[in-house]
Amino acid sequence: MSGGGKSGAAAGRRPFVVGNWKMQLPVSAAAEIARAIARTLPPLPDRDVAVAPSFPALLPVAEALRGSPVQLAAQDLFWKDDGPFTGEVSGPMLVETGARAVIVGHSERRQHLGETDAMVGLKTWAALRAGLVPIVCVGEQQDDRDGQRHESIVRDMLLHTLESLPREAAETLVIGYEPVWAIGTGCSATAADASEMHACLREALKTLFGATASRIRIVYGGSVTEQNIDELMAQPDVDGVLVGGASLRADSFVRIAAFGAPSR
Ligand code: PGA
Repeated sequence: MSGGGKSGAAAGRRPFVVGNWKMQLPVSAAAEIARAIARTLPPLPDRDVAVAPSFPALLPVAEALRGSPVQLAAQDLFWKDDGPFTGEVSGPMLVETGARAVIVGHSERRQHLGETDAMVGLKTWAALRAGLVPIVCVGEQQDDRDGQRHESIVRDMLLHTLESLPREAAETLVIGYEPVWAIGTGCSATAADASEMHACLREALKTLFGATASRIRIVYGGSVTEQNIDELMAQPDVDGVLVGGASLRADSFVRIAAFGAPSR
C-alpha cells in the first residue's frame, strides 16, 4: 500500500522525536544526560523533541530541562485520576511534574505486565483527560510478519485500543508503530516497511476519526539510529521516531533529533 497522502509537513504534522529511557538509567545519570541534551541540542523550531525518563527521574529531569525546548514525557500512567491504587501514577500527577506527553501500551508492558488493548485504551483516554499527549504503541511480533499477518494484526490492535475514544479527542493523539522484532535488536524495519505500515495505520485512523486522521502523527520505533534516521524521516507517513538504545547517550540522541539539520 502506498502512502498516497501529503507529506507530514504539508499536512501540518510536526515531526516528533522521543527518547524512551525505559528502566535503563539511574536517576542521577538521567538528569546528567538531560542537561547535556538541553545544552547541545541546536535550535529546531520545526519539530518537537522529548525524553521519557522513569518516574523517579521525572522531577530531576524536568529541572535539568528547564529553559530548553526539550519536553518531558513519561513512560506510563494509570487509567484513574486518583484513588486507592497502590503503586500507580495518574495523569494529573504527571502534569504536576511538568510532563507533556506519555507513552502508553509499549510492547514491553504488554508482554511483561499483561496490558491489553482495552487497558491501553483506558490509559489513552486518561492521558487525554489530563491534557497529556498520549503516544499509543502498537506493533507485531516476528511470527506475525513471517506469516504476512502484520498489517491486519497491527490494524486490529489500533482499532481495539482506540474504539471508545471520543472523536474530538483524536487530534492530540500520537501513534507509535513499534515492530516488536525491531526493538532493541539492532534490526530496524526498512524505511519501506515502516512507510507501508504507517500508511496502513493512517487508513485505520480514517475509519475511526475521518478527516482528523490526516493530522494524527505516527512515529516509528525499533532500532532507530543516526544511520537510519534520515531515510526513515524521508517517508511521507513517518512523522517522527521513538528512540530507545540510541537515546541513552546525549550525543547520539541530539544527532537523531537534529535529522536533516545542516549543522548536524
Ligand atoms: P530501541 O527501543 O530503539 O532500543 O529499539 C525503541 C523503543 O522500545 O521504544
